[in-house]
Amino acid sequence: MIDFHSHVLPGIDDGSDSVDTSLGMLDMWRAQKIDCICATPHFYAEHNTPRRFIRNRNGAYEELLMAARNEKGYPKILLGAEVRFFDGISNVSTLDSLCLEGTNLLLLEMPFTRWTDRMLREVGEIRRRGIIPVAAHLERYLDFNSKSMIKHFMDLDILIQCNAGFFLNKRTSRKALSMLKDRRIHFIGSDAHNLSSRAPNMGDALQLILHKLGAGSIEYLLRMEELIDVDY
Ligand SMILES: [Fe+2]
Repeated sequence: MIDFHSHVLPGIDDGSDSVDTSLGMLDMWRAQKIDCICATPHFYAEHNTPRRFIRNRNGAYEELLMAARNEKGYPKILLGAEVRFFDGISNVSTLDSLCLEGTNLLLLEMPFTRWTDRMLREVGEIRRRGIIPVAAHLERYLDFNSKSMIKHFMDLDILIQCNAGFFLNKRTSRKALSMLKDRRIHFIGSDAHNLSSRAPNMGDALQLILHKLGAGSIEYLLRMEELIDVDY
């Protein structure tokens, strides 16, 4: 199983603050039997360029690989980005370089404001370029956008990622399970940042899903993973 969203790479964003923290996070994923994790550091266009971001990200990845070289059974790491939406994003010629390694999937973090029709048109433009936006942690936007806006967004022929915590939080668990049952969630990620307050928690979410919805939903998530051509 793949964890689609994480901040495991050391010293590159507000996620893991050191190689030791990253190794501790990998220990947790290994114990949860997660086979592959997507390393998706934040990309903010106002502070970075795709080229510089990729250079820094790949450097942090190499550093982690070197530190983990004697470990067995760690999950495979795929490189990606969590790209914050900005005006003009659909026109950036190098946008595809921020897609998840080996795919045309772009983890897209929408603004934490009420969305506008213009924003949604721009997401549709990204899709028309042949890049598939995957909306990061959709659950965070449900409270301040209307149901019709959320529906309009989800109808853009995009994919939806939700966090494991959406399933594990008692207040939101029913909603998460119902959305997954309706196949309105396509990927789950821990969005893990550290070893404590935002630790890898995919294993617990998958157990809950198996218990509440049965093996069919796990099989469905595994079928979605076929969009990511990875051997693990
Ligand atoms: Fe994130």
